[in-house]
Amino acid sequence: MSNTAKFICFATQKGGSGKSFLCMSTAAALFKRTDYKLLVIDADFQQTVYKARELEEDEEVEGFDIIPFNYETDDINALIKYAQDNYDLVLVDTPGRLQGSDIQMLLAVSDFVITPIVAAAFDISSTMDFAATISDLKDEFGFELYGVLNKRDQTSEHKVIEQLEFSGLKMFESNLRYLARYKRLSSLEEVVTEDKKFDEFNLYYQEFKKKCKIK
Ligand SMILES: Nc1ncnc2c1ncn2[C@@H]1O[C@H](COP(=O)(O)OP(=O)(O)O)[C@@H](O)[C@H]1O
Ligand SMILES: [Mg+2]
Repeated sequence: MSNTAKFICFATQKGGSGKSFLCMSTAAALFKRTDYKLLVIDADFQQTVYKARELEEDEEVEGFDIIPFNYETDDINALIKYAQDNYDLVLVDTPGRLQGSDIQMLLAVSDFVITPIVAAAFDISSTMDFAATISDLKDEFGFELYGVLNKRDQTSEHKVIEQLEFSGLKMFESNLRYLARYKRLSSLEEVVTEDKKFDEFNLYYQEFKKKCKIK
């Protein structure tokens, strides 16, 4: 494995789209099923991921490393360097914005950006705005960009997706429904178990590995 880590960012501007959930469940699956040295950088303001880990530690569940990033006191360049030198794969959970030099640094070192999209008619214009912004950053920083439909329901999503693809956001073929078992970050075991080979999370995970060129 190379000595410079591959960085994968989970980003959208919308709170509640599933950035933290996707980041954490993807990390849990990678940890369980691969031998990569894996780090999660929790750069979400709420530190959702880091807090979920604190809950887990009560139950003594062994896990991958998570480093919370504090925007007030931490140096993003030092953290990036540390991650590059010590890990193979770095998943980054981000806050609901793309502005600010720390976020931009994380995007600049990212090889891939995964954007969870909750498709609903009422927020289509903000989703389109975001797609335009992230596509510009893609051109500037050179990462590969993919959208994943999350919290799928039966409404107007196909229309939203057609428009997103038109604006340059390539979508995953797989998607995740709105399911009760995705609601709690502290109990991912059930989501990532390997025996449910054909369930939707596994289809997402296989596609994630393929798109992000992870063996
Ligand atoms: N597909 C899904 N089905 C059901 N609940 C989900 C799904 N995706 C995310 N959630 C839940 O929705 C809430 C918001 O998701 P979160 O990952 O925290 O969003 P973000 O980080 O983008 O703000 C969390 O409680 C999360 O567990
Ligand atoms: Mg979050």
